Amino acid sequence: MVREQYTTTTQGTSLERPENQYVYKIGIYGWRKRCLYLFVLLLLVILVVNLALTIWILKVMWFSPTGMGHLRVTSEGLRLEGDSEFLFPLYAKEIHSRMDSPLLLHSSQNVTVNARNSEGKVTGRLLVGQEMVEANSQHFQINSNNGKMLFSANEEEVVVGTDKLRVTGPEGALFEHSVETPLVKADPFKQLRLESPTRSLTMDAPRGVHIKAQGGNIEVLSHMDINLQSSDGTIVLDAETVRLPRLPQGSRGDGGSSQGLYEICVCKDGKLYLSVADVKSTCQDYNSPC
Ligand SMILES: *[C@@H]1O[C@H](CO)[C@@H](O)[C@H](O)[C@H]1NC(C)=O
Repeated sequence: MVREQYTTTTQGTSLERPENQYVYKIGIYGWRKRCLYLFVLLLLVILVVNLALTIWILKVMWFSPTGMGHLRVTSEGLRLEGDSEFLFPLYAKEIHSRMDSPLLLHSSQNVTVNARNSEGKVTGRLLVGQEMVEANSQHFQINSNNGKMLFSANEEEVVVGTDKLRVTGPEGALFEHSVETPLVKADPFKQLRLESPTRSLTMDAPRGVHIKAQGGNIEVLSHMDINLQSSDGTIVLDAETVRLPRLPQGSRGDGGSSQGLYEICVCKDGKLYLSVADVKSTCQDYNSPC
C-alpha cells in the first residue's frame, strides 16, 4: 500500500533488453513515510490505551453479562443485591418484603407515614418518634383479623370492643365524671370496696335498695346517729333475738331487786328505757331516763 512497484520486465527478456527496464515508483518516501509510521504507532498506542481503559472500567464497575455489580437485569425487572442508597425521593407503587423475610423500616430520626387527598393535603398521619408514636386522623380504629372492632377512637368517643378491658396499673382507672355500668363486681376471691375517703357516699335507687350478706354479718357503724326512716311503711326487725343491750336503766333511788327481769318503757319522745319488772308496771316509778 505504501509503496507500489510495477515492473514491466518479464523473465528472459530482461537479460536481452536491460535498457528496456522501466521501474515506476509510486508512494510516500522520506520524512512523510516516517510521519505516517509515527501516526500509525500513535493510533496503535491510543487503541491499546483505550482498550485497557475500557477493560479497567468494566472491571471497576463490575460489569457482567447480567448487569452491573450488584445490579442485575432480569426478565422481571431490576434486582439490586446489597445496600442501596437513594439520597432523594424514591417513587414506588408498592413496597414488598422479600419472600420469607420481614420488612423493616429504620430511621435515626422520626418515621412518618402520610396519607394525602387529591389536593395534596395530609388527611392522615402516623408518626413514630423518639419519644412517642402519634396517629393523626379523624377516626382511629383497630380491627381483629375476623373484622371485629377492637378499639376505635374519634372526637366523640372511645370504644373498646374487646370482651374485657383490663387495667393492671396499681392506681387503677380514673374517671373524672360518672361511670355508667349495670354491674360493679370484684374479681373472684377478692374484696370489693366502695369508698369515698373524705366525703359522703350516697346510694340512691327509687325502686329499692337491697343489701344482702348471705354468708356473714352486716355491720353498720356510725360516729353519729343512725336513722331508719320509713315514710309510709313499717320498720321490721325480723329475728329470733332482738337485743338492745345498752338501754338506760330507770331507778327509784332504793334500787329494787328484779331477779334479772326488766320491763321496757317508752318516754314521751320515744326513748326506750328499762324498768325493774314487778307484778304490775313500774314505768311510772323508774322514769328517771326521760
Ligand atoms: C420528631 O417528632 C417529634 C414529635 O412530633 C417532633 O417534636 C420532632 O420535632 C420531630 N423531629 C424531627 C427531627 O423531625
